[in-house]
Amino acid sequence: MAKYIIKGKKQLAGELEVKGAKNAALPILCAAILAKGRYHFSNIPELKDVENMLNLLRHLGLKIEKTAPHSYYILNEGVKTLEAPYDLVKAMRASFLVIGPLLGSQKEARVSMPGGCAIGSRPVNFHLQAFEKMGAKIVIDHGFVLANAETLNGTEINFPGVTVTGTENLVMAAVMAKGKTIINNAAREPEVADLCGLLNKMGAKITGIGSDRLEIDGTVELRACDYEIISDRVEAGTFIILSALTGGKIEIKNARLQHLSVFVKKLKEMGVDVAEKNKTIKINVPEKLNSIRVQTEPYPGFPTDLQPQLMVLLSQAEGESAIEETIFENRFMHVQELNRLGARIQVEGHRAVVYGGKKLIGAEVKATDLRAGAALVLAGLIAENTTVINEIEHIERGYEDLAGRLRALGADICLG
Ligand code: EPZ
Repeated sequence: MAKYIIKGKKQLAGELEVKGAKNAALPILCAAILAKGRYHFSNIPELKDVENMLNLLRHLGLKIEKTAPHSYYILNEGVKTLEAPYDLVKAMRASFLVIGPLLGSQKEARVSMPGGCAIGSRPVNFHLQAFEKMGAKIVIDHGFVLANAETLNGTEINFPGVTVTGTENLVMAAVMAKGKTIINNAAREPEVADLCGLLNKMGAKITGIGSDRLEIDGTVELRACDYEIISDRVEAGTFIILSALTGGKIEIKNARLQHLSVFVKKLKEMGVDVAEKNKTIKINVPEKLNSIRVQTEPYPGFPTDLQPQLMVLLSQAEGESAIEETIFENRFMHVQELNRLGARIQVEGHRAVVYGGKKLIGAEVKATDLRAGAALVLAGLIAENTTVINEIEHIERGYEDLAGRLRALGADICLG
């Protein structure tokens, strides 16, 4: 298993350019299943997760051609198989996003059940109940979801809880259903809105984009098109925290603060000023950081995907902070690793109390999941001595060439 070796406390300064959003790229690539033709997608990040999704699309019969870094042609001349096999789905649970477009366009799908992961069991019951409400027959057999529908009927869906990929799966089924579908309690994440933007460009009729109530008029005619995806707000937030941890000499390009308003508000409470001037984000850091209380929530609330990274910043604030994790049942795996680096964080159920003012000292730690790994990189960069981060495959799923980009800022980080 690969590792990062970081010699901390280097002076970091310069510009970081945010890449395309992983969580927009994954559903948008799946949308190419819906209609024959040639798509051109740009600003696609170079990530393991994207590679896994492209492999799955190839397995389904689509042809992929990389035209340049971050740009791909996808040729859909017809889906060749309706099965997403276990080995491809196990590599990345977001592969479950193929079931919606397969059901929408082929009225049939056989997709391996996605497993849980370190942060939670992550069931897909909301997705399946909603498909059944549209008239699909769902059978779970030998770890596979077998879905088929004579016709997929538009209906009113009330999600019991906000689900990002659940909303995306249902939208991709509903765009080709018979009649109108209404999705209440829909996820409002910018990545969901970006998918809907692509689908409407393909000829779909989706209204309420960005709200928690989506209306989709089913249509049979969708066509391939070109599309550039949005930048990654979670990567931007991660780098804003890095800048705040290292004196504010790192500027971030290509990000949209409008997708991070609650996050920016919480940083402001800490005394960190985040401002955007001609597409460049500059950070002003105070002498002392205030402790705060924060609760993760579905968009537009504070993003759970920035919770581990914020914890590192809170460990450097004055006094006691508290984070309430309301989205996932087990998203504090990074706490024990951060405590090995000298942080003092106590977990009480869904709440973590972070005692500030802690000097971090390098140690050997391991990445338990994508964002936990990113938090450990931030901690290693400000810790004394050397930090070794094991199992960095998790990190490379969601951050393109992270070590290379950090080295360009003056970080001493290498692959072990
Ligand atoms: C998406 O995961 C993101 N992944 C996650 O990002 C992100 O953390 C999460 O949304 C929350 O914002 C992608 O978009 C590929 P959910 P998703 O369905 O869709 C429960 C990252 O770091 N739930 O919104 O799988 C579920 O258990 C990743 O990039 C059900 O109970 O998350 C969780 O507690 C990590 N039944 C909560 O809802 C369901 O059918 C939110 O899950 C679906 C979800």
